Amino acid sequence: MELSVLTGDIAAQSVDAVVVNLFEDVDTPGGGTGAVDAALGGAINSLIANGEIKGSRGEITVIHAIGDAYAGFAPDRVLVAGLGKSEDFDLDGVRSVSAIVARRLRRLNVESAATIVHGAEIDGLDPGASAEALAEGAILGLYRFDKYRTSSKPKFDETRPVTLTLVEHDGSKAPALEAGVARGEVFATASNAARDMVSEPANVLHPTKLAEIATAIASEGGIEIEILEQADCEALEMGAYVGVSLGSHQPLKFIHMAFEGDAGDPENNLWIVGKGITFDSGGISLKGGAGMGAMKGDMSGGAAAIASMQAIAALKPVLNVHMVCAATENMPGGGAQRPGDVVIAMGGKSIEVDNTDAEGRLTLADAIGFAKSKGATRIVDIATLTGAMVVALGAGHSGAFSNDDELVGQMIAAGATRGEPIWRMPLDPITKRQNRSDIADLKNSGGRGAGSITAAHFIGEFAGDTPWVHLDIAATNMGRSVHDWEPSGATGVPTRALIQLALDLGS
Ligand code: BES
Ligand code: MN
Ligand code: ZN
Repeated sequence: MELSVLTGDIAAQSVDAVVVNLFEDVDTPGGGTGAVDAALGGAINSLIANGEIKGSRGEITVIHAIGDAYAGFAPDRVLVAGLGKSEDFDLDGVRSVSAIVARRLRRLNVESAATIVHGAEIDGLDPGASAEALAEGAILGLYRFDKYRTSSKPKFDETRPVTLTLVEHDGSKAPALEAGVARGEVFATASNAARDMVSEPANVLHPTKLAEIATAIASEGGIEIEILEQADCEALEMGAYVGVSLGSHQPLKFIHMAFEGDAGDPENNLWIVGKGITFDSGGISLKGGAGMGAMKGDMSGGAAAIASMQAIAALKPVLNVHMVCAATENMPGGGAQRPGDVVIAMGGKSIEVDNTDAEGRLTLADAIGFAKSKGATRIVDIATLTGAMVVALGAGHSGAFSNDDELVGQMIAAGATRGEPIWRMPLDPITKRQNRSDIADLKNSGGRGAGSITAAHFIGEFAGDTPWVHLDIAATNMGRSVHDWEPSGATGVPTRALIQLALDLGS
């Protein structure tokens, strides 16, 4: 889909369909909706008066403007999108409406469409930000992953809509709208790239493939990348990470990408660390069979981290941004580590492997150890870390754990800006004791109670005093259309929040 911005009259566009909108409780629409209503001889007004159009959020009314009566009006269809109550309308509302409209345009087989910019007229919403959210909503909302279907293809033409033009009568707004659309495209395209990685089955997307995807993104964006092999990781004494990989025939790949946005000040940095378990069988502490297939998505944190670098390379914040993904499978092969094994993480801490299914924290320990050894001043790790997170917060929020009020505040704000909600969880000294081992410095499982918190405490041991945020995305990485811009399946969360954080820190 091609998005563009045009200054002009929405009622005078030669397109297959035009999109206008209506807030709830408005009887006489003005602006672009009023202009289209006049061109339709008052059809929208009549439908409001007789109660068919209510303006409620998510409502789409299709009016067909076909026949001699509409000779002066080019589009065959008008879509009236309900926006709900104006006082409740925000950028999430723009993303939602835009996604719903885009899917309807596709189902209507519309090739070219023009739309007014939802929200650009109301107080408190910046027109550029509205255009940005509109672009994000449309691109995210049209996402689908059906490359493996050879029959029973969807009943729509997947190339539609081909063009979507944002039409604004006030020409002074055009530069802001154009910049917004361009930014929205970058954010949404990155998120869709993360969705693709998460959706790929684990037989295709093994660590080697993930490293190839990261390499392609790095060369596209002109940024640095290095891939460490098992021997390199052994030389760096990453015993915790290497231990996880031993039960798999797939070689591990330690992926490190770097965007240099502030060469003069290397300390002005952000290290994004994504969990990259391309399949989590549990290892010798084997998981039950039910739902195990979802564990192809156990690299969702890594996918978001890698994909965010694509956007960061394009948007160029004044910040040095590094990405680390310690990719491996967690399999129960003959070489696999056993419950009860002791491994030594980079930096020397010993860990009793109480449960081989608590593998994410082992890989993150060494990924964070690596980041610290390279001078990280801020670390954000993202991981599908615990089933307990699904129980605690469900799909409503990703959980955040942190040793730094400022950084976690910035992370939560970035999530709110992008409609990727984040809720802070505690790191209390009581539950921290659950990670004590009888024979090593730490054990990798803290038992049933507070499972997400003990996992975070474990990672916190390796972050130390460096400002650090851990995001547990076990319930938000895949879902059933929690938001209108998320078709069911991989959400891409928190790719857009990470990009936003980098922009906020580097502006
Ligand atoms: N990848 C899982 C966590 C997970 C579970 C993500 C469900 C998404 C949905 C993680 O590696 C894991 O297995 N965690 C264990 C830890 C336990 C053994 C201490 C868990 O949460 O049960
Ligand atoms: Mn596991
Ligand atoms: Zn896992």
